[in-house]
Amino acid sequence: MKVLITGGAGFIGSTIASAFAERGVTPVVLDSLITGRQEFAQDKIFYQGDIGDGPLLDEIFARHPDIAGVVHCAALIVVPDSMRDPHRYYQVNLARTLDLAGHLVRNGCDRMIFASTAGMYRPESDLSVTEESALEPQNPYTRSKMMAELMLADFAAAYGLRVVSLRYLNPIGADPRLRTGLQNSKPTHALGKMIQCYEEGEPFTITGVDWPTRDGTAVRDYIHVWDIARAFYEAFDRFETIIPPLRPAGEGAAYQVVNLGTGGGTTVRELVGAFREVVGEEFRAVEAPARPGDVVGAFVNPDKAWELLRWKPEYTIGDAIRHSLQWAERRRELDVA
Ligand SMILES: NC(=O)c1ccc[n+]([C@@H]2O[C@H](COP(=O)([O-])OP(=O)(O)OC[C@H]3O[C@@H](n4cnc5c(N)ncnc54)[C@H](O)[C@@H]3O)[C@@H](O)[C@H]2O)c1
Repeated sequence: MKVLITGGAGFIGSTIASAFAERGVTPVVLDSLITGRQEFAQDKIFYQGDIGDGPLLDEIFARHPDIAGVVHCAALIVVPDSMRDPHRYYQVNLARTLDLAGHLVRNGCDRMIFASTAGMYRPESDLSVTEESALEPQNPYTRSKMMAELMLADFAAAYGLRVVSLRYLNPIGADPRLRTGLQNSKPTHALGKMIQCYEEGEPFTITGVDWPTRDGTAVRDYIHVWDIARAFYEAFDRFETIIPPLRPAGEGAAYQVVNLGTGGGTTVRELVGAFREVVGEEFRAVEAPARPGDVVGAFVNPDKAWELLRWKPEYTIGDAIRHSLQWAERRRELDVA
């Protein structure tokens, strides 16, 4: 059995590909390599191309009739870029996803697991989000993902394409066996900056200590990328139970949203503490006021993921930090090689 993974040469898609392969489902990777890395797909069946390319999709399905579903990760994902150039973001994340959905329906593929973002929710007063939280996307990237979901839900209602949308926030870490990880050597999230400060021997600056959180610092729902990958596999494995092919009229949508998260998140101070546990107490942090544009953050309630996927995160934040540091090292070796 095979699974088609779009964006399978990117950070999350490549990790998902390894998780499926380890469980005996052969990944077929489709990636344009616009941000993905060729070597992340080197031991996989790999097609370099665009998700909107109909003849290529037809060829893939003709050559691999045993593809049982698609994991759709291909996207542009950098929020500030989406604000500078929304046209490009809507083109890839929405218009090309529309084309892809058409190609899937034409080829008789009726299962999709969509990589989506829990950034589209307005957090509740305790900063948690659930599948019932209001949707309030804050930027073109997040809006493009939300619009793609709305469009996929219409496809699900009309054409028999069944879609499970997995929404999550801040994947970190790397493949625990260090086959793949982040392509970018300077990630802009707090852990990325922490690693940079650590390597340069500089103190890390905690910006904002007056937020309404348990310790006053902002909260993010960091989650190990391997845990995310496992959730995609569980959704694939349980697909027939989550969305049965034959549903009584009017019962059971062909479109399901499931949030993935830790249920509590990690504050910046907690992240610093976990980082020190991994690298040693000499790692320094200083405090400063919040910068314009900083946000308090949110965390995801994963109850539905447990109910439907029997999934919850297994790796700790310390594991994710350790794997991120190991990957930073490995990445340098790959770049030199
Ligand atoms: N990284 C995050 O913080 C995060 C959080 C929530 C959701 N997500 C979602 O997870 C998915 C994967 O994110 P990632 O962090 O692995 O990003 P990534 O940039 O590492 O991977 C995206 C991949 O898609 C490929 N791609 C882009 N446009 C394409 C196209 N038109 N045709 C074919 N391939 C194309 C890129 O080359 C890249 O390999 C995305 O859909 C993203 O919206 C990411």
